[in-house]
Amino acid sequence: MAILVLGGAGYIGSHMVKRLIEQNEDVVVIDNLVTGHQQAISKQARFYQGDVRDREFLDQVFTKENIDTVIHFAAFSVVPESMKDPLKYFDNNTGGMINLLEAMHAHHVNRIVFSSTAATYGNPKNDTIKETDPQNPINPYGESKLMMEKIMHWADVAYGIKFVALRYFNVAGAAADGTIGEDHNPETHLIPIVLQVASGKRDELQIFGDDYKTPDGTNIRDYVHVTDLADAHILAMKYLQTGNDSDAFNLGSSTGFSVKQILEAARVATGKEIPAKIAARRGGDPDTLVAKSDKARKVLHWQPQYDDIHEIIKTAWNWTQKHPNGFEDQK
Ligand code: UFG
Repeated sequence: MAILVLGGAGYIGSHMVKRLIEQNEDVVVIDNLVTGHQQAISKQARFYQGDVRDREFLDQVFTKENIDTVIHFAAFSVVPESMKDPLKYFDNNTGGMINLLEAMHAHHVNRIVFSSTAATYGNPKNDTIKETDPQNPINPYGESKLMMEKIMHWADVAYGIKFVALRYFNVAGAAADGTIGEDHNPETHLIPIVLQVASGKRDELQIFGDDYKTPDGTNIRDYVHVTDLADAHILAMKYLQTGNDSDAFNLGSSTGFSVKQILEAARVATGKEIPAKIAARRGGDPDTLVAKSDKARKVLHWQPQYDDIHEIIKTAWNWTQKHPNGFEDQK
């Protein structure tokens, strides 16, 4: 039976597909290629181009392929964009989930591993966030994902579709062999932007606000390596395949780095100067987001391999240097 990866041409999805193929799984990929890159998909996976909101298309794939478990990454995920265009997020992310669950129910597929996010917690009360902490998103992106979690819960109650929601903190890095990595257009994420400055593609980093409630005034985030994250999905899939109940897990390193600390770490990891200046705050940014992720370690037996931010940045730098124009070079 096959694993269906929705959004398998995206940054995290493509690392997931690579990891599954390395473990000799039979992999089917769906992606609409709006933000993903076909070149990022492992050749051994069977690829169908289409949209998660297109029910007829989903029915065709579920009819043709013998799907055991769905891993769902297909979503828009840019916080500032969601502040400007919330309905785009509710339509694609939340609407897409309803359509997907309907198709899964119709085709008797009853396991899903889902990319949720730290953004569902909003501005947390505690220094590190537990899965049981209140979820009060402060941006539409986080809200769209929280709604997706709730929809999955009721689909479980009614139809017995079991789910694992993995609430990622900030995903970073690239495959160790440098074959795939992060390539968004336009790029909005901190580490790839810092590395674009390091490689001379941008003049300077803009630090969005230095008046947050943190020791150096810049936002603190918890960075987790993309292949560690992919491994957590494989463990979550096995957790469901062995008959466990639906649940949610944080995935983070449990260590926070401020924007200024990431900049310093990137200067060390690349040996480049990386000019930066303070700019205005960006909408929708919580002060600090750091995970308590013992639950994933304990229940899923997740053991992240990358615990040094310099090493994480180095894998992204390796990808950036090998592919200065991202996947453009591989067309
Ligand atoms: N930042 C800058 N300058 C930039 C880009 C980013 O200062 O040019 C800052 C942001 O303001 C923020 C931090 O760097 O404080 C990280 O920003 P990213 O855009 O890299 O990541 P976000 O924290 O906004 O969001 C990411 C994912 C979301 C997820 C969230 C959870 O994109 O999907 O992490 O922490 F929900």
